[in-house]
Amino acid sequence: MAEAIEDIVGAKAATVDTPLTEPVDTLYLGAGVFLGKVNGAVLDFIATLTPDKVKQVVCFGSSAIIPSPVPQMRKALEARGITVSTAEFTCKGSMGPVHSGHPDSKDIEDFRQFVKSTVSNQ
Ligand SMILES: Cc1cc2nc3c(=O)[nH]c(=O)nc-3n(C[C@H](O)[C@H](O)[C@H](O)COP(=O)(O)O)c2cc1C
Repeated sequence: MAEAIEDIVGAKAATVDTPLTEPVDTLYLGAGVFLGKVNGAVLDFIATLTPDKVKQVVCFGSSAIIPSPVPQMRKALEARGITVSTAEFTCKGSMGPVHSGHPDSKDIEDFRQFVKSTVSNQ
């Protein structure tokens, strides 16, 4: 999914252990869900963000059981005063045999369309 953003937006994708070194207009932030919770590393990264560093965040992610990681991400970001776009994307992710193979090529194509729509709305 990060590679799709790289391809469409033209910005370099990075893992959440890479600190933001310069202010950004739109940050695309993705997560999965483990034992009902968004990856701790994503929440640790959110804790480093401030509204002056990030104008807005577009959240995306994948999960196997709960509907989406995005509400937990949105809550953590908004608690820091960061603007979160109403545009968001979630697809199935795998948990062993549950939704095995997801995100699949259709999920990635849907995600590509989503990313394109966020770019054209800016
Ligand atoms: C060990 C493990 C635990 C998981 N626990 C949950 C869970 O509690 N709820 C859920 O919706 N999905 C769960 N999943 C599915 C992941 O959220 C899914 O694989 C997601 O696509 C991972 O995204 P990532 O690889 O980008 O971190 C779990 C997956 C694994 C491997």
